[in-house]
Amino acid sequence: MTRGTLAAAQSAVYQSCRAFPENDLFIVILDLFFAGKETTASSLVWLIYYLATYTEAQHKMQAEVDEVLPKGTLATLQDRARLPYTEAVIHDTLRVSSLSANGGSHAASKDTMLGGLCYP
Ligand code: HEM
Repeated sequence: MTRGTLAAAQSAVYQSCRAFPENDLFIVILDLFFAGKETTASSLVWLIYYLATYTEAQHKMQAEVDEVLPKGTLATLQDRARLPYTEAVIHDTLRVSSLSANGGSHAASKDTMLGGLCYP
């Protein structure tokens, strides 16, 4: 994605109409690294922690991976449906781990009623 973003920023169209200022590119790259890198790394650390703690789940997941992806085969998106246990382990890791305890702050741009609640 970064390569595509850089290519877009360098393209003649963007250069000529200045629709992609350099500062925007800087912010997009910051988004990728701050929002994308730490969350992904922490998710993997929690996954390893839980698999090391719950060895029964680890062995079950390993067996599924070995069966669906013979040694050396890299997973693709098409393999996802054949790895339900592995997917469940990943979902549960995301559910129970403290990845973004406080989250980012959000605010409504104007007072909004939704489901009987007021979001000022
Ligand atoms: C396991 C990996 C990830 C987790 C657990 C995660 C988690 C989150 C959470 C909790 C939020 C806040 C959502 C909200 O409160 O509205 C968020 C937002 C965001 N994440 Fe991730 N994220 C992950 C991976 C990534 C990656 C790989 C990228 C970029 C390549 C990314 C980019 C963003 C951006 C740009 C936002 C802000 C979206 C907005 O405008 O509201 N995240 N993420």
